[in-house]
Amino acid sequence: MTTPTIELKPSAHPLPAAEREAILARPGFGRHFTDHMVTVKWTEGRGWHDGQLVPYGPLSLDPATNVLHYAQEIFEGLKAYRRPDGSVATFRPDANARRFQASARRLAMPELPVETFIEACDLLVAQDKAWVPPHGGEESLYLRPFMIATEVGLGVRPADEYLFVVIASPAGAYFPGGVKPVSIWLSENRVRAVPGGVGDAKTGGNYAASLLAQAEAAAEGCDQVAYLDAVEHKWVEELGGMNLCFVYGDRLVTPALTGSLLAGVTRDTLLSLAADLGHQAEEGRVSIDQWREDSRSGALTEVFACGTAAVITPVGRVKTATDEWTQGDGEPGEVTLRLREALLALQTGRAEDRHGWMHPL
Ligand code: COI
Repeated sequence: MTTPTIELKPSAHPLPAAEREAILARPGFGRHFTDHMVTVKWTEGRGWHDGQLVPYGPLSLDPATNVLHYAQEIFEGLKAYRRPDGSVATFRPDANARRFQASARRLAMPELPVETFIEACDLLVAQDKAWVPPHGGEESLYLRPFMIATEVGLGVRPADEYLFVVIASPAGAYFPGGVKPVSIWLSENRVRAVPGGVGDAKTGGNYAASLLAQAEAAAEGCDQVAYLDAVEHKWVEELGGMNLCFVYGDRLVTPALTGSLLAGVTRDTLLSLAADLGHQAEEGRVSIDQWREDSRSGALTEVFACGTAAVITPVGRVKTATDEWTQGDGEPGEVTLRLREALLALQTGRAEDRHGWMHPL
């Protein structure tokens, strides 16, 4: 694997500071982008080459570009945080880099070296450091690395040219209510992923496939869709864009990685962080009947969604085609809030980084 150098070609016209500050005051999620992006090309026989940090701007693609037809695309999501001393650190970029490689293998794409992935993120954050929201809130700079097949042609086969890009976007809460509990629509007749499919790869197609069920969730008055496994239609897998965690008093259970779920970095982090806080944290199976009955009996005390964008978001209500229930008392649970605070304290540099997860710039 070649590790290309990344040439710096900064913008002569970054956004004026006053406009940037206005955006940072209310960033929303994924609506504004920083002044730069990093691009690296891959060509069959040549490997990775032409790494550049350039002004943020449109990509020019031929209408016959492979990705536009056959969706050979993968992406990642990770965040950079401002620490109390004003410095900036990203959270577990190596974990995202390795998952990016795993997604690339599944989509028959070239693997980007872990060090190039991290260097590209580092260079972009360093160049656009002024875009990292101030310490003190929950805002961060969300990084979106992605790779697309850029070969021009309509043949259905792995492309022989690719483009890796990293863009960055200041981010507030993914759900507009922040820590306000979200409602879940349980989709019993649509599946997100099948065994042997691409459910464990972070590829745009999985998200495209979730949109109809997500729209149905919205029509049912819910914030997110939850999926069951595709074979027995029984085991809870994940939400449209994040993992799930079930809290039984002191014990946390998150659906095991069966091959059709995404191995979330936040999910993985929480398995350790929950144990640090004295909880029993495990991967397991939770059926939809268990979810319903254990909620009604009170054994299942809390449920939360977890992901880079969602951080930790409590679930307050669950709705199916035939049924509906309130999760706990419908308010954010104690364990959910404690884990959320522990995670954010670590990420924003207010707590000791015992696991070496933070990557200072
Ligand atoms: C993330 O959490 O980073 C994701 O990619 C999920 C998406 C819903 C924004």
